[in-house]
Amino acid sequence: MREYRVNEQGHLVFGGCDTVELAREYGTPLYAVDEGYIVERCREIRNTFTDKYLNTRAAFASKALQTLDVIRIVTREGMYLDTVSGGEIYAALKAGTDPSKILFHGNNKTEGEILYAVRNNIGRFVVDNEYELDMLEKACSELGRVQKIQLRITPGVDSHTHSKINTGRLDSKFGISLEPENRDRIIRKAMKSEHLDLMGFHFHVGSQLQSNEDHLMALEILLDLVREVRGNLGLEVKELNLGGGFGVRYVDGEEDTRVSDFTEPMMDAIRAFCVEEKMAMPVIYIEPGRWVVANAGITLYTVGSIKEIPGMKTYVAVDGGMPDNPRYILYEAEYEAVVANKAGLPADKTVSIVGKCCESGDIVVEQTNLTGKVESGDVLCVFTTGAYNYTMASNYNRLPRPAMVLLREGEHRLSVRRETWEDLVAREL
Ligand SMILES: Cc1ncc(COP(=O)(O)O)c(C=O)c1O
Repeated sequence: MREYRVNEQGHLVFGGCDTVELAREYGTPLYAVDEGYIVERCREIRNTFTDKYLNTRAAFASKALQTLDVIRIVTREGMYLDTVSGGEIYAALKAGTDPSKILFHGNNKTEGEILYAVRNNIGRFVVDNEYELDMLEKACSELGRVQKIQLRITPGVDSHTHSKINTGRLDSKFGISLEPENRDRIIRKAMKSEHLDLMGFHFHVGSQLQSNEDHLMALEILLDLVREVRGNLGLEVKELNLGGGFGVRYVDGEEDTRVSDFTEPMMDAIRAFCVEEKMAMPVIYIEPGRWVVANAGITLYTVGSIKEIPGMKTYVAVDGGMPDNPRYILYEAEYEAVVANKAGLPADKTVSIVGKCCESGDIVVEQTNLTGKVESGDVLCVFTTGAYNYTMASNYNRLPRPAMVLLREGEHRLSVRRETWEDLVAREL
């Protein structure tokens, strides 16, 4: 979470706005997203990466937070866009994204998605496996197109993060394993195709990483691969994509990493490698998602029932829960929270903040410190919900998905309207 400010009324201020006023005006649960913070993060990426080094690109991993507004904010700030489905590409195009700046990921792209992406001139396919390579080749030959691709490899690095967001280890559904016979067959096939232009390779080791160790290990493996395929297969590697995964601070004890913590040592290693191998420096991509938006977002709830179990636990229930934030039930993710209308009071009581769904696992924040003066009707703020909340939301128990407001230096506007009960049955025939 970020440092926060409290105004004279004792209310939490976020993005320059009184959060209690936001809850009153737009209702709860409410996602509030600070546009100014997203812009700051994009600019830090520019200053320390894309403007610092020649031929570098940063693609926002839009799965972290995809709305038309957010796409427009990040692309205006010079970011490319990482997408992972036809739906994400559709939204990217609808938001006006230059298709040549879209990367298309995914371990099981459908034929329909492949055709849609090729027809729309998507800049890069990050090809995950041979099945996709064959389908893409067929689609491009039917459409008479040449598609630029990167091949996603599985570096076999068991990253230091939760198993469900660890994507680079050998036992992973993602990417091409580097067993020589397997990888060479696929690379050769891509090189031979008249309709595919193999630009280079991609890895993504995992998410919410607090140190650069795993990236550096994966890079070493990637550079070994580059050396071998140049020597053995004569492939000229023009692009390397180093994925995302840069960690942010959710709770005390975690680091808000700097992108340069990851990119600087990797760029040094790549440069040294290119000098040694007498090879032109490839174009380098990164794909941060969480790092750009996690701390741009908060969720505001209204406190309802409070259940005290003497000597055991206090449950503070809010008007949302796992449908708007499934990260506890997925990863036992931790958050910090504050009572927004009593933000100046000391956090002197340990409670569990829970949702309103019929699931005991419907926990928003397990065992956190809040003010003991918390009461029904209070506005509760959960911090650092900008990434993987809105995009992972569901309608479990027929809860309508929250609205989203965009904040900028004290100004606010509705960006996504709240779902209605009517919306919930709108597709049912
Ligand atoms: C291929 C790829 N790139 C980038 C990301 C973004 O990761 P993060 O949000 O941790 O930066 C992901 C996340 O799952 C991913 O799978």
